[in-house]
Amino acid sequence: MTAKIIDGKAISEFFRAEYKLRTDRLVAKGTRPGLAVVIVGEDPASQVYVRNKAKACEALGMHSEVHALPAATTQGELTAFVERLNADAAIHGILVQLPLPKAIDDRAVIETIHPDKDVDGFAYANMGALVIDESHYPPCTPWGVMKMLEHEGIAVEGKHVVIVGRSNIVGKPQAMLMLKAGGTVTVCHSKTPDLKRFTRDADILVAAVGRARMITGDMVKPGAVVIDVGINRLPDGKLCGDVDFESAKAVASAITPVPGGVGPMTITMLLGNTLRAAERVAGLRDSAAETMLA
Ligand code: GUN
Repeated sequence: MTAKIIDGKAISEFFRAEYKLRTDRLVAKGTRPGLAVVIVGEDPASQVYVRNKAKACEALGMHSEVHALPAATTQGELTAFVERLNADAAIHGILVQLPLPKAIDDRAVIETIHPDKDVDGFAYANMGALVIDESHYPPCTPWGVMKMLEHEGIAVEGKHVVIVGRSNIVGKPQAMLMLKAGGTVTVCHSKTPDLKRFTRDADILVAAVGRARMITGDMVKPGAVVIDVGINRLPDGKLCGDVDFESAKAVASAITPVPGGVGPMTITMLLGNTLRAAERVAGLRDSAAETMLA
């Protein structure tokens, strides 16, 4: 078997076209959705991600601001900066790019973001909502994986979903979303002995562990769907995922590439969350009745 390649760029275009229509509708009513991205320090990978987020916003006609603060920014300065964005009516979504410099307490900064503007969905209020019932802002990467599967007509209900990785950004929220979708979920991680025993049993395998090409074809059940969330830089400068693409492609039924798989979906879901934040402020959504949506 050779797997179908799931084209994250094409699926992103599909969702972005719909978001563009909704943005135009909001702008016509006098509200331009606005996203503020805050980056602290000089991490080159983070700088690329932040630039891509801003470009994507502008392409949809949203307002975007990037605030690059020096690496020496203190906790107090950063939280005061976030408070100003909380009070800014032109800003509907705030994203503080992670990782932050070691001297800064990430959690304290995330909790400073008003939950209605927390388009990353990382604050306790939104994470809690995700676990118990519905969150307005599901975290962008795992939500992008769900929308990708939905778009491809790949059902989760009744499937064994194995997630490799237990991060707050991907692994844990991914497990909650897969559970909600009716999957039977196993979460493995770097300390799981005999990982292959679990991955070989997955109908849907999500790799989000941050180790280049660690999931090889022999660890994949024939016919499984393989979703690669990893973005690793090889010594030659090329990007690769957590999955060894060539060997896994030979056994899976469908697989996402890196780049061009989950990555574009993450940014697309950030646009969706920002748009939803602006629609809520403009009164276009009944927040009480709302369930997780587009
Ligand atoms: N760093 C890597 N992924 C993310 C993300 O989804 N949001 C933020 N804020 N930082 C990140």
